Amino acid sequence: MFEIAPSLLSADFTQLGEAITEVEKGGATVLHVDVMDGRFVPNITIGLPVVRSIRAVTNLTIDTHLMIVEPGRYAAEFVKAGADMVSVHVEADFHLHRTLASIRDEGAMAGIAINPATPLSALEEALPYADFVLLMSVNPGFGGQSFIGNSLDKLRRLKTMIDERGLSTRIEIDGGIDSSNIAEVVEAGAEIIVAGSAVFGGGQAADAVRTLIDRGTRWV
Ligand code: DX5
Ligand code: ZN
Repeated sequence: MFEIAPSLLSADFTQLGEAITEVEKGGATVLHVDVMDGRFVPNITIGLPVVRSIRAVTNLTIDTHLMIVEPGRYAAEFVKAGADMVSVHVEADFHLHRTLASIRDEGAMAGIAINPATPLSALEEALPYADFVLLMSVNPGFGGQSFIGNSLDKLRRLKTMIDERGLSTRIEIDGGIDSSNIAEVVEAGAEIIVAGSAVFGGGQAADAVRTLIDRGTRWV
């Protein structure tokens, strides 16, 4: 089965509580929170205080995607703020094992995020120390970009890599997912599906989540 993780980046920040209630109504089980520092990516978003506020109003799984340099300095802080899942970019961390361990030690699931142009071989050594891999299907920094076509093949190869090693690492995919391509990524092995503009881009967010679940389920 797969889960829908609406990305709050595309929600109205003055109505975050309402957005969370809506997506929960639609059947979302994970809230994807994009943390950007203006250095690893050319955009600045939100941080620890917002994660704390969200934790106070929901029991959904909080998934923080750290698009920041030196993520080892902050990863455990995000768990303390209430995150259940924390992912850090393989491109941003010189000491990935240590950072992944710090996330697990605080009691959360540790994830490795990987950019579209970074080869899967970069994951090899750290894979056994991660609970999930966040495969970027756009270049991180902004919502509303188009799915990079090659990501589907990369996703299949990642699934094979995990299976061949006998690991139970989950795959999360992030960027450019909507009702037209969700079936393909679910079929290729993605279990956590991030969707920002497809959920909050217009109309009722609850309905948009239901549509994604419906389209994805046809292939399960
Ligand atoms: C991009 C973020 C994504 C983004 C997804 O840097 O990591 O989570 O919000 O938005 P959509 O679904 O619109 O591509
Ligand atoms: Zn993200």
